[in-house]
Amino acid sequence: MARRVIVAGNWKMHLGPDEVAPFFEGLARELVEGVLDRSRLEVLVFPPTLSVPAALGAPSRRPPIDVGVQNVHWEDEGAFTGEISVAMARQAGATHVLVGHSERRHLFGETDDEVARKVGTVARHGLTPVICVGETLEQRRAGRLEEILVRQLDAAIRGLGEVGAAVSRVLLAYEPVWAIGTGETATPGDASEAHGILRARLEETGHDAEIPILYGGSVKPHNVRDLLAADGVDGVLVGGASLQPDSFARLVEAGAAAVDG
Ligand code: PGA
Repeated sequence: MARRVIVAGNWKMHLGPDEVAPFFEGLARELVEGVLDRSRLEVLVFPPTLSVPAALGAPSRRPPIDVGVQNVHWEDEGAFTGEISVAMARQAGATHVLVGHSERRHLFGETDDEVARKVGTVARHGLTPVICVGETLEQRRAGRLEEILVRQLDAAIRGLGEVGAAVSRVLLAYEPVWAIGTGETATPGDASEAHGILRARLEETGHDAEIPILYGGSVKPHNVRDLLAADGVDGVLVGGASLQPDSFARLVEAGAAAVDG
């Protein structure tokens, strides 16, 4: 059966405003003809905030490639130097927001409570939160995979509940911290197991368990097909391999192929 497949690129702190149009030109050149015409394929890029207008205005960017932001503040406005609001992201034309990425959690001390508030604000403004969850290697080795995933998921869902938004409005991403930027990829079996834990928890708490769940962590052109074929994996969230037009094109093509898979 045809399914919805999502290929998302998280550019992190790469690709400034001047590099964005050439990126999309390169992508348009690289992509096999017709790939972007596949219905049920969704492609997202998350540029650094300053590059978002350039991405939205890039002549070679075309549907279904949407643009999101990597982080927002949970308040609507105020004295929060260095932050951006969801309303600003929406005004700029962003449709999605990454929330709770492990780099935000681990390098910048973002807590479950902050993730919950951000998820709520993003949903309240009608943008789609892409909620990232995942365990560290230490937690995995200590047998705490399920505990951590459930804790992070419950917190994010609480944020939705606070603004009366349904779980069907979000995308989830399982990103084991030990696999991010390390070249260490979870096996398709690891991804399925974690995605299964998340779906079981959604079901147990009375929510839509069929929402798309992406896998992220060292996804590359050589492993993307196996990951997309894994049970319960509806897409990929990619850092390093999303930065070059050729490798991102290969990931998008794999996503298109997986729509029928
Ligand atoms: P990576 O990053 O693909 O470079 O491991 C993934 C992510 O952080 O979203």
